[in-house]
Amino acid sequence: MTELKLAILGTAGSGKSSILVQFLQNFFIEEYDPTIEDTYKKHAMIDNQTYILDILDTAGAEEYSSLRDSYLRKSAGFFVVYSITNRGSFLESKRFVEEIHRYKNKTVFPIMVVGNKTDLEFDRQVSQNEGMDFAKSLHCSFIETSAKTNTNIEKSFFDLVREIKTY
Ligand code: GTP
Ligand code: MG
Repeated sequence: MTELKLAILGTAGSGKSSILVQFLQNFFIEEYDPTIEDTYKKHAMIDNQTYILDILDTAGAEEYSSLRDSYLRKSAGFFVVYSITNRGSFLESKRFVEEIHRYKNKTVFPIMVVGNKTDLEFDRQVSQNEGMDFAKSLHCSFIETSAKTNTNIEKSFFDLVREIKTY
């Protein structure tokens, strides 16, 4: 059994906690309850290997004061989440990715950039191509998700774990 520490970063309201709750408990919460800081553990069977995922959910509002040093140091992979309906949250993603790179002193690290809230297509402010190009420019993986409709949620975790495995 391999234990892996993961952390979820991104601006307030982008859907970090909702993605986690959907992944861990298979439900969606409509109400917005800002996170201070939470950690969760989940067993996951990925490519015939059992993992214990130890996941840190951070507060978007506090930006990188919430990047607890010890967790950052130990995290093997990161999600950087923005909302496709909020251009500002997309633009801020860069800062989170750069912060991880700076902290790890690496320009390539397992990071999954996540464009969340694809169920709100009519409100889209960031195209899929923009998201993809952005992730590529920083050597990150990319996926679009909806925590509401449970689209690509499990895949985002599995793909990040695979990234970590081959890193
Ligand atoms: P902080 O903890 O403050 O950093 O926010 P967060 O990134 O954890 O966001 P949270 O998951 O709390 O979601 C914020 C709001 O967006 C909530 O009202 C959610 O219901 C909503 N939301 C999250 N994901 C989705 C999604 O995929 N689709 C839709 N339509 N709403 C979403
Ligand atoms: Mg939250």
